[in-house]
Amino acid sequence: MSNVQKVAVVTGAASGIGRGIAERFAEDGAKVVIADLDEPTAQEVASSIGENAVAVACNVTDEASVEAAVGLAVERFGRLDVMVNNAGILQISPVVETDVNDWDRMFNVNVRGMFLGCKAAAKRLIEQDEGGVIINAASGAGRHGVGMLSHYCATKACAISLTQSLALELAPHKIRVNAYAPGHIMTPMWDDIWEPYAQRVGKTVEEIKEIFLATIPWGRYGEPSDVAPGISWLCTDDAAYITGQTIGINGGEWLH
Ligand SMILES: NC(=O)c1ccc[n+]([C@@H]2O[C@H](COP(=O)([O-])OP(=O)(O)OC[C@H]3O[C@@H](n4cnc5c(N)ncnc54)[C@H](O)[C@@H]3O)[C@@H](O)[C@H]2O)c1
Repeated sequence: MSNVQKVAVVTGAASGIGRGIAERFAEDGAKVVIADLDEPTAQEVASSIGENAVAVACNVTDEASVEAAVGLAVERFGRLDVMVNNAGILQISPVVETDVNDWDRMFNVNVRGMFLGCKAAAKRLIEQDEGGVIINAASGAGRHGVGMLSHYCATKACAISLTQSLALELAPHKIRVNAYAPGHIMTPMWDDIWEPYAQRVGKTVEEIKEIFLATIPWGRYGEPSDVAPGISWLCTDDAAYITGQTIGINGGEWLH
């Protein structure tokens, strides 16, 4: 089955990769809930997509808020087929300067938020008893340590682990659980990272961009449109035998 007529919730869909996934789902003919902390931008994204999209203010760290986003999918479009737990945050911070509040914020959004999204979706999908798909945003940084990103990397390793455990647990319900591990995808997330990172290592932003680019065999940075088609495909029945996997989408930057 293609994604036509499927109903999806995408968290963090007001920006970057989440927006790209939501727009691709809508192009596929799916209905999509644009769930994001940034409600005005979520509304703009939903309006630009049209009648196949609806926006909702959603804080993924709050269980009631996540349940409401799934509830809206059911209320507006009659069911849930796909949950994409994409919302996430990134911060440059050497470990000795990382405040416990920074650590907790990172884990609250990237791990607790993902757990709550998986839980709300699994409850609904089990109730429907027709299978379904859950997709989580991991990262190459969940497989490889990166200096000054220790808390971020740790959360993304959690994303890979959570994906594996839930794939096993939910397989009897025919719910597939996979993750994507993007490399360097040019989104607003990077806007706040280039400058502090360059300063920390004593280089200019242009020099840092050149250094990172040299690590990508494909020879360019990625765009959300490089990620979205793979996610779309993972939701189709062509991917029916794929579960528990974390798929790298990175121009060859990391091979494992
Ligand atoms: N861009 C990359 O290079 C890259 C690489 C690897 C992994 N990722 C992961 O992909 C996902 C999307 O990243 P992006 O680059 O598109 O980021 P982005 O900053 O462009 O978008 C993130 C979105 O998440 C929303 N958000 C943040 N906190 C939220 C919360 N508590 N509740 C609901 N929404 C919240 C933001 O408002 C924003 O719209 C993240 O999980 C990120 O860690 C990105």
